[in-house]
Amino acid sequence: MKAQAVTDYIYCIYADVRTTDLFEGIWPIPNGVSLNSYVVKGQKTAVIDLFRDWTGAARQMEDALASVGMTFSNADYLILNHLEPDHTGWLREFREKNPKAEIIATAKGIELVKSFYKIDTGLRVVKDGDTLDLGGRFLVFYETPNIHWPETMVTWEPESGTLFSCDAFGSFGALNGRVFDDEFSPAEHGYFEAESLRYYSNIVSSFSVFVERAVQKLSGLDIRCTAPSHGMVWRKNPKTIVERYLRYAGYARGSGEKEIAVIWGSMYGNTKAGVDAVIKGIEAEGVPCSCRRVPDENVSYVLSDAYKSCALVLAMPTYEYAMFPPMAYVLDIFRRKHITGKKVLRIGSLGWVGGAKKDYEAVLAGLKWESLESVEWAGYPGPGDLSLLEQRGRELAQAVKNG
Ligand code: FEO
Repeated sequence: MKAQAVTDYIYCIYADVRTTDLFEGIWPIPNGVSLNSYVVKGQKTAVIDLFRDWTGAARQMEDALASVGMTFSNADYLILNHLEPDHTGWLREFREKNPKAEIIATAKGIELVKSFYKIDTGLRVVKDGDTLDLGGRFLVFYETPNIHWPETMVTWEPESGTLFSCDAFGSFGALNGRVFDDEFSPAEHGYFEAESLRYYSNIVSSFSVFVERAVQKLSGLDIRCTAPSHGMVWRKNPKTIVERYLRYAGYARGSGEKEIAVIWGSMYGNTKAGVDAVIKGIEAEGVPCSCRRVPDENVSYVLSDAYKSCALVLAMPTYEYAMFPPMAYVLDIFRRKHITGKKVLRIGSLGWVGGAKKDYEAVLAGLKWESLESVEWAGYPGPGDLSLLEQRGRELAQAVKNG
């Protein structure tokens, strides 16, 4: 694969990772993910962000560098915007190939270089506003903590207006030979929008307040190219992905789309019958809804739908005096990811004595959800239960419309 020219002195090199491995060991990437690095050439040369040698990424990167007459051994600087191993896993190999390159990161980043990779020499700490002179052009560093780890920064190249943002403004999805936003069709952009939402909700959502702070901090820059380390490079519409991230950040405060995410699990179809009745009520009010079954569908997609929607239906039977275990796992993920501010209807078949309600209510604390009165029934729902469930679906949909 060849390096892609952002300008005549900036190149994107990337590896498309296609694997059944999970991203962060949790999140499926059935359509892959790209690991992007960048090269900026002045009289001296900087590499911005590395990668993990995942499914042959190192070979892909070395081949791409060779296409512009470079090797990792002749870089003068290695800039690490973020130390998570998807961007640094190959650092020791880099250091073996290039003992002289100065490794540049924030103070917290340099501490992680030392502690993660046992590298103690040739390190430079930079702080907010510091510059690096490449000879003929320069780079500027801005600290943007917690996007996605505390040590994170972005790198700015003012001549071209390129922002190297690492995790910020990234997406799941392999690039398949194209890199720039103007090379993808509207349908492909639709696909990447879904994958950027899933990436954001899975990886970044807990740090939404920091996304908003960073966008505010960088608002004075004339960004003409947004160059993240996952996903496409935005040279035609560089603000599109920034505005999208701001919208996603707003979802964390409960200001989701006027949609309902229905998340359900059922053992013998009794809770499923209740779900169907609720959906009938929602559809009667004309509010869009998505539907995910657990554990059949991975929590990554459940989280993405739930994060985007302003309202949830959580349907689960009681299982051994407590919540259906796959739903308990989903709620634990919601708690960890701060899925707050939602309008929520909980329903479910209670079996012989119930217990899901008590278990659920213990989890509710801290989620700041606005709950409708829940509906439970024994075994299969009777006509009165179904009527009530449909009514609750209508009420939730009306709350969404009026909210
Ligand atoms: Fe792509 Fe937080 O690493």
